Amino acid sequence: MSNALELLRLDNLSAGYGEAVVLHDISLRLNEGETLALLGRNGTGKTTLMDTLVGATTQHSGQITFGGVALHPLASHERAAAGMGWVPQERNIFKSLTVHENLTAVARAPRNQQHRPWTPERVYELFPRLAERQDNLGTQLSGGEQQMLAVGRALVLNPRLLLLDEPLEGLAPIIVEELLRAIARITREEGLSAIIVEQHPQAILKISHQAVVLDHGTVVHSGSASELLDNPDLLDRLLGVAQVD
Ligand SMILES: Nc1ncnc2c1ncn2[C@@H]1O[C@H](COP(=O)(O)OP(=O)(O)OP(=O)(O)O)[C@@H](O)[C@H]1O
Ligand SMILES: [Mg+2]
Repeated sequence: MSNALELLRLDNLSAGYGEAVVLHDISLRLNEGETLALLGRNGTGKTTLMDTLVGATTQHSGQITFGGVALHPLASHERAAAGMGWVPQERNIFKSLTVHENLTAVARAPRNQQHRPWTPERVYELFPRLAERQDNLGTQLSGGEQQMLAVGRALVLNPRLLLLDEPLEGLAPIIVEELLRAIARITREEGLSAIIVEQHPQAILKISHQAVVLDHGTVVHSGSASELLDNPDLLDRLLGVAQVD
């Protein structure tokens, strides 16, 4: 993709919580329409990087450029309005609202006509389970349904970049399959850019273009997703888990 548009760019980013610096000197690039798998063991800074993109940490140095705009001066709600669609690790849905209310409370018009806009109806088409549960409260949903709703809530904001923090964590295998299919459809087929955090990366690498591995808050590997998939030894060295698929 020689004429691909750069969507996100991190240059020598250091960030953390208050005085504590968690991320050191992170640089990466993401083109429009690409998916990046953000990998690493527990506590290596994956969530901190997502938090930093959405403006929930202290940025100590370096730059984040999103769609050509420097993010540093923007508050979290301004970053969301600029197109950061965040699905946090803890799946924040409104538990006291119904599925449908969760989706309609946040829906916003698309920013361009390039792609079919995401509406609650399209989310139901993507996740038929949610359609069946439209009138159920957030408290009445299974973990998998909550995750689908969290993804749906991010989609109806019609983001430019989808940030998924361990979307498959703790879910039953059948739900993992459903979510993977939906994520592949959103990214590979519809071309929405995404950063997907995972600890168990095989399935995510298969649908990603790039892979970045963090350790101790620094980038210890960066390359194509297929390179890592084709190199189990390297994957094992970086993540320390024997991955069998
Ligand atoms: N709110 C916080 N305040 C201070 N330090 C934090 C905070 N959240 C995380 N940290 C620290 O930042 C480091 C990176 O944590 P982070 O949550 O980003 O890791 P992670 O890669 O997402 O891990 P996991 O795979 O377990 O989700 C850890 O040392 C953690 O203790
Ligand atoms: Mg995390």
